[in-house]
Amino acid sequence: NRTVNKGQKALHLCNVKGGTNMENFIFENSTKAYFGKGCVSQYLPDVLKQYGENVMLAYGGGSIKRNGIYEEITEILKAAGKTVTEFSGIMSNPVYTKVLEGAKLAKEKQIDLILAVGGGSVMDCCKAISLAAVYDGDVWDDFWMKAGTVSVSPVPLGIVMTVTGTGSEMNGGAVITNEIMKIKTGRDYPALNAQFALLDPLYTYSVPKKQMVSGSFDSLSHMMEIYFSLPNEDNVSDDINEALMRGVIRDLRKAIADPDDYTARSNLVWASTMAENRVLKLGKKTDFECHLMEHQVGAYTDCNHGCGLAVLHPPYYRHIYKDGLPKFVRFATNVWGIDPTGKTDEELALAGIDALADFIKEIGLPTTLWELGVTDKQQAEEIADTCFLSPGSYRRLTREDIREIFASAY
Ligand code: NZQ
Ligand code: ZN
Repeated sequence: NRTVNKGQKALHLCNVKGGTNMENFIFENSTKAYFGKGCVSQYLPDVLKQYGENVMLAYGGGSIKRNGIYEEITEILKAAGKTVTEFSGIMSNPVYTKVLEGAKLAKEKQIDLILAVGGGSVMDCCKAISLAAVYDGDVWDDFWMKAGTVSVSPVPLGIVMTVTGTGSEMNGGAVITNEIMKIKTGRDYPALNAQFALLDPLYTYSVPKKQMVSGSFDSLSHMMEIYFSLPNEDNVSDDINEALMRGVIRDLRKAIADPDDYTARSNLVWASTMAENRVLKLGKKTDFECHLMEHQVGAYTDCNHGCGLAVLHPPYYRHIYKDGLPKFVRFATNVWGIDPTGKTDEELALAGIDALADFIKEIGLPTTLWELGVTDKQQAEEIADTCFLSPGSYRRLTREDIREIFASAY
């Protein structure tokens, strides 16, 4: 028994029963989310009043100019009397040189608010810009190659989400590619959370089907990466997670059948946010080994993130399922509805992974590294040797494990 705080009764910290319990946690999410059709025109004018005059309007390759979002937002900014500096051309899988370009501009123009209009790539690039614009050192070295402490106040960031999947709109995560070093890596700094995020499902209607599908698979991947980690005992996070996984599978099928199904599209938006706004991670170790492998495939091939995950998840899980058997059994029954009658635990676990692989084929995502642009086996090995290793996975992978996973994904 240990006495905590003077005079208080002891807490029995050492006598907790059960196997692996929920990890201790502190939960905070500082992003204010506005969700629903019409939310941008309804709320952005008022929200803008909280910020200074100089706004950086940041976006990607121009989809917002074709679907009317650019026009709607620039009119709101004009009506609010803002001086707008545009920063465009943020590419998918944003690179560090683009971060530096944006930071230089933000400094020069003394930007008061960065308004990121786009998907994960625009959001992530802008989070890094918000830090780099006020930091004197090299943010790549100090915040991405290693975990740093954000002791400066980043430029305030607001987000208008236009494509769903990464969940970047409600976390401090930013995945950046250093194109010279061929390293793609992400960190989640709560100080980089956007101050507000506007999530209008109608804004996602113009997203091409392939991106809609790969983005939603990214959300499912986030859920699985959290679910397949300790603790295994019944816990709130896993229970919510199963409901979200079933929901994404259901809603993605519905959205493929009818892209104008507002219920399905709006569920996909919020499920994606929920998967990465830290709620599901509470008390969990989390894995993300599949992401770590995919990021390196992306660093070498610039492949679509969700497509890379679709290729790697089934072979990764076939490689490690024995190390987390009870959870893979639960996945098969509770997520895919597989009847356990007459099946051993191992058969059931494999049936769940097969159901996932079948779903990936059904929704039309790639299943081989070759389709992602890894065109020879030697390159697959080279990429495998650059992957980071996750401390939270059911099995601490070795280089040889990753090579084997890549070989079976080739
Ligand atoms: O660039 P534009 O022309 O806007 O086109 C984009 C891009 O080609 C298009 N698009 C976006 N909104 C659209 C639209 N097209 C038509 N209508 C719209 N409304 O969609 C394409 C993909 O955009 P992108 O932002 O690259 O996709 P996504 O949201 O999947 O972001 C991917 C990046 O996020 C990282 C990934 O690694 C990748 O770099 N991630 C970030 C995470 C985080 N911060 O928490 C977690 C994730 O696991 C992920 O790693
Ligand atoms: Zn992801």
